[in-house]
Amino acid sequence: MKTAFPLGCLVAGALLVNFDPGLSASEPPSPRERLLLDSGWKFHLGNEWGAAINWAKAGTGSGPAGRSFSDASWRSVNLPHDWAVELPFDQGADGSHGFKPVGPGFPANSVAWYRRTFALPEADAGRRLWLEFDGVFRDAEVFVNGWFIGHHESGYSSFRYDITDVVNPGRQNVIAVKVDASQFEGWFYEGAGIYRHVWLVKTSPLAIAPDGLFVQSVFKNGKTPKGPVNIVVQADLLNQSTNSISKATTGFELFSPEGKSLGKFKDSHWIRGREHAKFRGAAKFSSYELWSPENPKLYKLVTTVEADSKIVDRQETVFGIRTVAFDANWGFLLNGKPYELKGTCNHQDAAGVGAALPDALQYFRVRKLKEMGCNAIRTSHNAPTPELLDACDRLGMLVMDENRLLGSDAANLDRFKGQILRDRNHPSVVIWSIANEEFSVQTTPAGVRVAATMQKLAKQLDPARPVTYAAPVGNVFTGNINSVIEVRGWNYHVGPDMEDYHREHPTQPEVGTEQGSTVSTRGIYANDKARGYVSAYDENAPPWAHTAERWWSYFAVRPWLSGGFVWTGFDYRGEPTPYSWPCINSHFGILDTCGFPKDNFWYYQAQWTDQPVLHLFPHWNWPGREGKDIDVWCYANCQQVELFLNGQSLGRQTMTNCLHLHWSVKYAPGVLNAKGYTDGKVVSETSVETTGAPAAVQLNPDRPTLNANGEDVSVITVSVADAQGRVVPVASNPVHFTLGGPGKILGVGNGDPSCHERDVDLPQFLIHSVSLNDGWRWKEVPNVYDQRLAEYRPDFNDTNWSAANVQADKGPLGERGQAVFRARFQVTRQDFEAEAVELRFARIGEDGWVYVNGRQVGESHDSHVPSVFDVKSFLHPGENSIAVAVANWNAGGGISKGVTLQFADKPVAPEWQRSVFNGLAQIIVQSTKEPGEIKLAAGAEGLSPASVTIPSQSCAPRPFAP
Ligand code: GAL
Repeated sequence: MKTAFPLGCLVAGALLVNFDPGLSASEPPSPRERLLLDSGWKFHLGNEWGAAINWAKAGTGSGPAGRSFSDASWRSVNLPHDWAVELPFDQGADGSHGFKPVGPGFPANSVAWYRRTFALPEADAGRRLWLEFDGVFRDAEVFVNGWFIGHHESGYSSFRYDITDVVNPGRQNVIAVKVDASQFEGWFYEGAGIYRHVWLVKTSPLAIAPDGLFVQSVFKNGKTPKGPVNIVVQADLLNQSTNSISKATTGFELFSPEGKSLGKFKDSHWIRGREHAKFRGAAKFSSYELWSPENPKLYKLVTTVEADSKIVDRQETVFGIRTVAFDANWGFLLNGKPYELKGTCNHQDAAGVGAALPDALQYFRVRKLKEMGCNAIRTSHNAPTPELLDACDRLGMLVMDENRLLGSDAANLDRFKGQILRDRNHPSVVIWSIANEEFSVQTTPAGVRVAATMQKLAKQLDPARPVTYAAPVGNVFTGNINSVIEVRGWNYHVGPDMEDYHREHPTQPEVGTEQGSTVSTRGIYANDKARGYVSAYDENAPPWAHTAERWWSYFAVRPWLSGGFVWTGFDYRGEPTPYSWPCINSHFGILDTCGFPKDNFWYYQAQWTDQPVLHLFPHWNWPGREGKDIDVWCYANCQQVELFLNGQSLGRQTMTNCLHLHWSVKYAPGVLNAKGYTDGKVVSETSVETTGAPAAVQLNPDRPTLNANGEDVSVITVSVADAQGRVVPVASNPVHFTLGGPGKILGVGNGDPSCHERDVDLPQFLIHSVSLNDGWRWKEVPNVYDQRLAEYRPDFNDTNWSAANVQADKGPLGERGQAVFRARFQVTRQDFEAEAVELRFARIGEDGWVYVNGRQVGESHDSHVPSVFDVKSFLHPGENSIAVAVANWNAGGGISKGVTLQFADKPVAPEWQRSVFNGLAQIIVQSTKEPGEIKLAAGAEGLSPASVTIPSQSCAPRPFAP
């Protein structure tokens, strides 16, 4: 059966991350390929090679940018990857970024290199090839086969390069990316590295342009879906065949959520070489299903391009039929009806992995928020990872898609444009936010003009979506961005100035862009500055902010405010308000960095869902406090609640809208129990119990099985329980882990905002070097460019050549001279056990070609940087020879500053451990592409161990580049 949209592997009813293209066997394969380039990268932290771009000569990137540079001793990593999370915490580092020693002041940790080779079949000659980056933090210089192909500064926007001209079909090709995270872009943890996916896209020369499809649902009466829907489609085609004019026909076919073809239409045009052309079409349907968070029904558009009687492109676009609008009186309207935004702002990092989230973790986080009743996410304060939007489309979550920086300079507008073109087909995206809290410029004429320009661009590219700005001001309009923005955003304002603003600007819709900023620590019930913990009673918020009850009780009864977005759904690294060190992450989350709920979770769940909610806190383990008063709070959505301690009633209380109930209870160990009543009947019941001492470790995976696609993850809750299996809410035992089977540990966490244990344990590399400075001889030759010179051969007799001191500061060769330098060295059988053997020249001046045992291992064109060659496959035990041909134009002088041979042993696997925080920790395990059973074991001193088996079932991985 044909699937309606890419469904991927379905396990136990859960929609997972591996999406196949949804083609049935009878459909021809698309001439377009989109290959994941996530696996098989080499990574090196540091830049010992200076500037990589050679502005003087093309195709000769220096150091790691060069084609023949060796990365054999570098660490292997898969993307997404964040090196900041791997660094230790450092009190001297920037606290708002999470005390990681990266960025300003830490040059040694702030620049890194990634390299990867990929094979291209001969058949790719004549196709267009694109390299696409979903996001790199930040300032990336990208090279392919030594050619510099692009520089992208922003750490949050996606970017792509046409690499057709510089790749070699039928051969191996090399991508090198220099990432420079020396500068921050925000004031929160931002990660470092290629922390989102990379893709290799192959198309015909005449094809749909990147982000070239746009689907809109149009209704006769505008924002209310009544009567038939008109699906209006636009395809932007790009003809990259030089000087050729082609007639193209673009066919559009629409599919229902059940995969039924709903109709086809087409459009034909001539399209010149090197030009774009727009193809359009539309189809009306009177029967359709509307997309909403409660009913996330997805349709599919299949676009096919035909030229010269051949299908030259085919692409699928997932979309939803729905309308969005903001009304000045009724707030946000979804499908024409008032729909309260129960939103959370979120940064993109999570425990264990930093900013590098596998797609399955995006789904995990969206599900957690939905469980709380959250129906909207604000991607504060940057363009999101595209896969987060996929998760929101599929699981049903609205999105305020935010741009990073206010600015109408060409680069900023270009990034904002790219974000809109990339994201505008997602039904989940319901509003664009041009920026957040631009304090310095929001009240200046320039700020107002820039905002207007950005809004105009958004409207031009996407007329149907509203635009907002997250404004941290009260009743301010004139001379402020509020005077030009379509939807007025409110950051941290609760109270009469909002009423005044609404009265004075009765036609402008409004939304709570950022509210709350309540601070709390999971499982902690008293503020403790020294340890960096804030009580989880909803009582603490910084001076500019409000408690959960305060903001929500205000917004809940004012429909014109549209609801709002709480700061934040999840804790994130950095911004440890109200404290600083030893705190390393925020306290703003309703859930902690692992996604474990704090008590406020149930406040929102009681307010935001219809399911019966009855939540009592704190925990009931207070030895030494017997007979003393403990504040007991209750969140519920029934009419009354009665509390009992050890069976004895402590009274029944009536709920007040949007507030909690409170009892002061004299502590006695045992069971605290509550019953919820509506219309006199018990509708809910809950209890908290005094537990015994820690006795056992428990492991609980979020899903029973994984997909063996190399991407899927299991999020496993680690808990410490008493002898009766009850989680001990004050336990802090260190737990260690071992993993067997086809899986790997990505990271660990525990949600403790002051924990300095490692989230990621790295393999240890054992590296040793031997010097190769002795026995060098050299001789001038007329033409080193001739690769057949006898002087390169291993058996060449060089005994009458001059001795060369290759350790000197400068080599012996004069300007415009050409020479060969030769040496012999011994390699033992034991040396051969090393994983990598590298030949390193501190300096070859200037152009150099290096031969080992007569075979060329690579070349070097920059005398200012060391050259490194992977020579393991060129060596043999016993005597080996090196010959280096050098052409010296200026003052390099040949080989100088020393030569070494470096051996890197197989890395030693890390040992993983993490302490539980208030009873809980988390470990994230990823599948490999091998099916089988992943076995995780966990132990802690004095406790019974636990183990869990997670079957990883066969599942075709997403198409990937070899
Ligand atoms: C806001 C800001 C957020 C975060 C928050 C903390 O002003 O927009 O990024 O810093 O304060 O309360």
